[in-house]
Amino acid sequence: MALERTLSIIKPDAVAKNVIGAIYNRFESTGLRIVAAKMMHLSKEQAEGFYAEHSERPFFGALVEFMTSGPIVVSVLEGDDAVKRHREIMGATNPTEALAGTLRADYAETIDENAVHGSDAPESAAREIAYFFADEEICARTR
Ligand code: PPS
Repeated sequence: MALERTLSIIKPDAVAKNVIGAIYNRFESTGLRIVAAKMMHLSKEQAEGFYAEHSERPFFGALVEFMTSGPIVVSVLEGDDAVKRHREIMGATNPTEALAGTLRADYAETIDENAVHGSDAPESAAREIAYFFADEEICARTR
């Protein structure tokens, strides 16, 4: 299995619920390592840029409004097969379809406010990580 990196966002609804630590615990207890992290409050321009590929979709305005509604926690996770494993831990985009024990089943209310984001492929992970982090902000394992 390949060592990969993926981008995680703990969205405004989950930050408001005070479950940052619980979500981080889920990552760490399944072997994913946090190698970069920051809390930020996105501007409209930052959110529109991040979700640019969805700009033609009917929910785009609502998605940008939600993602700018409060602080988020953006992290880079590292591990074997990290992109796919992180998606499994998150569960389906629509929490009503998310398997029991996944983050969205536990912490998301609706598809509009679904607690977490994760890159969907290694290529998008590289782009999304670069959107939020400079190379020197990512801490490689030293011991
Ligand atoms: S995915 O997993 O990226 O393929 O999901 P996708 O269906 O393409 O959705 C892309 C992002 O838009 C969010 N989304 C929505 N927001 C508001 N309303 C509706 N109906 C809706 N449907 C999807 C979804 O959570 C994805 O955001 P991220 O941050 O990637 O999870």
